[in-house]
Amino acid sequence: MTIPDRALAPALRAVLDHADYTVDAVDDLLGATARAALQRNETTPALRRTTDGSPLAVLIRLFLLQAPIERAHADRALPGLVDELTAAGLLATEGAAVRAELDCRPYADDARDWWVVSDLTPGLDGQPIRVTADHVLGVSPASTSLAQLTTRREVGRALDLGTGCGVQSLHLSAHAGVVVATDVNPRALAITTFNAALNEIEVDVRAGSLWDPVAEDAFDLITTNPPFVISPATADRLVYRDSGLPGDQVVEAIVRGAPAHLSDGGWCHVVANWAIQEGRSWDERVAGWLGDDCDALVVQREVLDPPSYVELWLKDAGRHGEPGYQEAYDEWLGWFEDQRIEGVGFGWVNLRRGGSARELLDHPYAVEQPVAPAVEAWSVAQRTEVGEASRLSLRVDVVQETHGDPGAEDPETIVLRQRRGLCRARQVDTVEAALAGASDGELTVRQILDALALLLDRDRDELAATYLPKVRSLVREGFLAPV
Ligand SMILES: C[S@@+](CC[C@H](N)C(=O)[O-])C[C@H]1O[C@@H](n2cnc3c(N)ncnc32)[C@H](O)[C@@H]1O
Repeated sequence: MTIPDRALAPALRAVLDHADYTVDAVDDLLGATARAALQRNETTPALRRTTDGSPLAVLIRLFLLQAPIERAHADRALPGLVDELTAAGLLATEGAAVRAELDCRPYADDARDWWVVSDLTPGLDGQPIRVTADHVLGVSPASTSLAQLTTRREVGRALDLGTGCGVQSLHLSAHAGVVVATDVNPRALAITTFNAALNEIEVDVRAGSLWDPVAEDAFDLITTNPPFVISPATADRLVYRDSGLPGDQVVEAIVRGAPAHLSDGGWCHVVANWAIQEGRSWDERVAGWLGDDCDALVVQREVLDPPSYVELWLKDAGRHGEPGYQEAYDEWLGWFEDQRIEGVGFGWVNLRRGGSARELLDHPYAVEQPVAPAVEAWSVAQRTEVGEASRLSLRVDVVQETHGDPGAEDPETIVLRQRRGLCRARQVDTVEAALAGASDGELTVRQILDALALLLDRDRDELAATYLPKVRSLVREGFLAPV
């Protein structure tokens, strides 16, 4: 399928803009219920709300609902452009009707509106999912997860590795001087080039695998949502999700290779899957990929057992209910067994060049989004020196929860819980809880511990020796911070 030339982008941009084809306007017209249905790939509620023939309604029906549009309506929504867009591969005309050949949808962050062209969403209204090997995915949940994980500090040079439709490049263009986007799929590169023009941004688009196209380059920021699906390396791969390398080798190659392409203080964010092998903890395996030249915060967000994982990805490829489904399922499970893989972790790898702190956190709980500021704060906390003379304060969002029998003198458990950022919870004892509560930035750590020793009738030095490491850990986990 052809990808439109970038020369067409300004004219398309003008009509999309004129029709107010934005996330907010689309949301308003569809309303919450039809929007939710569309997220479940059901178009009927949205079709019922887009019958007025306005350019906005027509664009929604054409691109988001993949409905055939009367030529006269298409001409009103895309004045003077229907023939050109048809010749360019964005639309197809069938008799008196016009259809979308590619998806074109609004996308936004808090400050900006963009449009993203990609291949059509497969499987609307229960139609069979058919995707070609070189399918270029639109904005997916993994894309938005990565966008929220990626620091939005102003940077010089940024890399979007495995760009797909270029969604990460759109975000990067807002805060990076130079954006380089790479992919092995020529269609993805052509679509990213078109999307860059459509959104009036500059992207240096390069073809090649993994680090090859940037072998000599260093970046202040690298962000990647690689083709991380863990499967036997098979010939019939879908390039948007299968790297062609067996197991989690693609993620390993990215994590091992990133430090050499980061400038000092630069960040690399990866959304990834990793294999969990029998007799080996998930974090031990991933830690083996980390060098000692980066701070590394790895967060495991979810674990799937092999059958759930195989079903998820066979369904994603439209194989469910097709001939050969059970054979493919069986083969994949058998490969997991041979590899002694008993689960698959999904999560985030964050590297910051120039340190050696590391934390591998199993954290399947809700976090505040965007989570990027919490990841950056984590790195600052690892570099914070804490001693007896430090003055610390409890983060304002931290609450204390106590559990125990009603009326009991002491609670059985005390938990400090963050309500923002990574939303960590930490079980503490009464001394830690009292220490956290007294940390208002006025008294030093030692002054607080001495007061507690007096109160609890404990030896001052022994209490300080016991609790100073816990104070450091409370700082590293973001409960306490220096004033
Ligand atoms: C899951 S998609 C991510 C697309 C986009 N960056 C996003 O965040 O939605 C993975 C992308 O990596 C590309 N890819 C596959 N193998 C690659 C490789 N060896 N090197 C670079 N990119 C690759 C695919 O073509 C695809 O566009």
